[in-house]
Amino acid sequence: MAVTVKRRSTTEDDITAEALRRIEGTPDPRLRRVMLGLVKHLHAFVKEVELTESEWFEGIKFLTATGQKCTDIRQEFILLSDTLGVSMVVDLINHRKPEGATESTVFGPFHRDGAPEMAAGGNIAPKDQKGLPTLIRGRVLDLEGRPIAGAILDVWQADSHGLYDSQNPNSEELHMRGKFRTDKDGGFVVRTTLPVAYTIPTDGPVGDMLKATGRHPWRPAHTHFVVSAPGFEPVTTHLFESTDKYLDSDTVFGVKDSLICEFARHETADAAAKQFGVAAPYYTADFDFVLKPAMAPAGAVR
Ligand code: BEZ
Ligand code: FE
Repeated sequence: MAVTVKRRSTTEDDITAEALRRIEGTPDPRLRRVMLGLVKHLHAFVKEVELTESEWFEGIKFLTATGQKCTDIRQEFILLSDTLGVSMVVDLINHRKPEGATESTVFGPFHRDGAPEMAAGGNIAPKDQKGLPTLIRGRVLDLEGRPIAGAILDVWQADSHGLYDSQNPNSEELHMRGKFRTDKDGGFVVRTTLPVAYTIPTDGPVGDMLKATGRHPWRPAHTHFVVSAPGFEPVTTHLFESTDKYLDSDTVFGVKDSLICEFARHETADAAAKQFGVAAPYYTADFDFVLKPAMAPAGAVR
């Protein structure tokens, strides 16, 4: 008796179509959209570059090593996303700001909870002996230019050796971090040291990837901020030092023009320096953060 043989998908495009068909029934509509897009573009990538089997296996080994490099304080996958520009594309899609609002940039892997709250002029860098004293000061404002009193600035920075406290294997101590609350005029003053350019961690698969693609691992000098206030959308951002040579080639694509700030050098102590006990030479950076109102929760009655 003749056996009827069912014809199955055999071409590359048949497999793509079948893989997509099997995802079509995903109950959650958002997950369905994300998964269809992911599989479609993954297949297109493999076909476009005609991936060899050894390249496929190199990719598997690379992703495995990336996962194995992750610990409580080291997130190699985020570093991979950052260095491929994915984090900044996600940032731009998710934080479209109205004209005048302070722009966001990458969060990065070095934020830590528990930074101490400090008074105006509080020094986040008391142990950074080699660092050049710096005051970062300004106001937190709403879109109409009105001061926001009681806003919180969560600030963190690498020290003058270009290292974050969490990169010191011999200490768990918090350093180069502080939280500042704006005064009734929306004002804040952070005492720190002049930020310096530094390299992201290169002792893992991401470092190998940068080397293999002929890229440098440097980030331009910056100070990190998360600025928040009730009724406003928090902004995760940096201030970048305006003379840094890596502004045009930040390895994580984080620089936006509006976040570049002059750090002015002063040879003699003026009133501000005296008020905060800063010896010359020292630097000042003046910057106002502008917050946009928080979105009303879905279903809220206006
Ligand atoms: C940072 O600025 O701390 C950072 C951001 C992205 C990747 C690595 C470091
Ligand atoms: Fe940083």
